[in-house]
Amino acid sequence: MKYEDKDKTLNMERSIRLTEKIFKQYAKIYNDTLREFALDHSARVDAFMELLCVKRHLPRDLGKAAAVLHDAAKFLDNHPKEHAKLGAIKARTILEETKDYSADEIDLICEAIANHSNKTIHQDPFSEALKDADALALWSASPSDDLSKKWTDRIQSALIELAGNDAKSE
Ligand SMILES: [Fe+2]
Repeated sequence: MKYEDKDKTLNMERSIRLTEKIFKQYAKIYNDTLREFALDHSARVDAFMELLCVKRHLPRDLGKAAAVLHDAAKFLDNHPKEHAKLGAIKARTILEETKDYSADEIDLICEAIANHSNKTIHQDPFSEALKDADALALWSASPSDDLSKKWTDRIQSALIELAGNDAKSE
């Protein structure tokens, strides 16, 4: 999918429908800690991903879809290991069921989800945005946590990028 087509294909209503559907499933998670983390973390990734997509001229409605689905295998199917690859498979099923997304869009979203755990390497722009959003979400939830320190460079560079003073041109 060409990123420059984003304005033509932007459809925030479908991302709101998807977010509602997925968050309703997260809200039903029985374990309190997992449920609270699923809701909080997914909301943080959603917010950061939207900011990064605007900043980087990526399709933000697709960014929001990737954000809310990126850890679905971990949260809904109890797959802490390999959750990125399994999450991409799960996301594809969910996205196809909605009938709101084209095959190209689903491929873009699922590739980013499959790649999102590989934070030490650089891949396509959409995957990188999801990785940055994920890292920023974990950092913002507990800034002094060792968990986020392994991605210090990624987090710092994304924060500097988001703090840029070109908001009026976006
Ligand atoms: Fe995540």
